[in-house]
Amino acid sequence: KTLKIGLIPADGIGREVIPAAKQAIEALGSDIPRPEFIDLLAGWETFTKTGNALPHETVDVLRNECDCALFGSVSSPSKKVVGYSSPIVALRKELDLYANVRPVLSVAPEAGQQPAVDLIVVRENTECLYVKQEEQTIGENGKEARATRVITERASRRIGQMAFELALARPRKHLTIIHKSNVLSITDGLFRETVRKVPTLEGLNGKYDDVTIMEQLVDSAVYRVFDVMVAPNLYGDILSDAAAALVGSLGLVPSINAGDSFVMGEPVHGSAPDIVGKGIANPLASIRSAALMLRHLGYTKGADRLDLAVDQVIREGVTLTPDLKGTSSTTEVLNAVLKRI
Ligand code: NAI
Ligand code: MG
Repeated sequence: KTLKIGLIPADGIGREVIPAAKQAIEALGSDIPRPEFIDLLAGWETFTKTGNALPHETVDVLRNECDCALFGSVSSPSKKVVGYSSPIVALRKELDLYANVRPVLSVAPEAGQQPAVDLIVVRENTECLYVKQEEQTIGENGKEARATRVITERASRRIGQMAFELALARPRKHLTIIHKSNVLSITDGLFRETVRKVPTLEGLNGKYDDVTIMEQLVDSAVYRVFDVMVAPNLYGDILSDAAAALVGSLGLVPSINAGDSFVMGEPVHGSAPDIVGKGIANPLASIRSAALMLRHLGYTKGADRLDLAVDQVIREGVTLTPDLKGTSSTTEVLNAVLKRI
């Protein structure tokens, strides 16, 4: 048996860290089925060359040939560019990867990190403001811009259920619903109500009785630390970057985009134009993303080996990239991880 893994490095440091994750997976040997990698295109550069940021072939191959995938990062422009739309947002929709699971874990508090952090942000991945329905008109006040925010019961229910599952599997079993219902009582109100009702769904028979449900408004949630947090798309995006600050670098935080039939690992960080090409991008978020992906597929032993190797390298504190105040290169950190695998 083989494990077919689509590789979509996309832009910027994605091309430096995804190859590192590939090598880490290859180092696992027989703990996972023989990996077969398929290189796929997407991103801003692909758009500038072909006029399409997400070629149909990429989606087709992911859908029909791959068991899972790893995505790097895209360099999306901050201005509207006709014909361009973010391939990662599109991929999440195309493959119905409705949950973005982002664990934030500190393993070396002694290395200047905040008190131990061990939390998971469970971000809804298909709707909210990311439906990207925006328009601009001219009104009494000059230009007026509007964005539509969509929250549905179906999407809130399934992300809620994913979050309850994750909370149940942890020692504390706390689930905090993140919202801003005091202001957005209809949209965030629906999210909150729907997630709250998940434990009463038919067929669950008290499965989540041990999970303590809490709530926090999104703004104050930024400065408190919780166990598992479930949030609409935009809040989840912002919260997880904020949580990354608690562990010292965005370059440490992994994620998976998960649906019912496909999973795609993706470091939380972007394409990091400020450091691209310098060979100093931290590969650990991508290696951890590979571990999360394998864990999601049930390859626990392989995932454990990747995570342990990464944790060891961080704890030793010798071979680290500059974002963690080290002086090592991407390749040196990768080699340190490979050695420990
Ligand atoms: P960013 O995450 O690319 O960078 C923020 C800061 O963190 C930078 O100083 C960067 O050098 C540092 N950083 C990020 N990852 C790192 C790593 N692995 N190792 C060392 N340092 C790291 O966010 P920014 O600057 O806001 O966005 C840059 C571009 O990335 C934009 O075009 C944006 O649209 C895109 N982006 C793409 C995402 C994706 O592909 N899912 C997510 C976030 C941003
Ligand atoms: Mg983000």
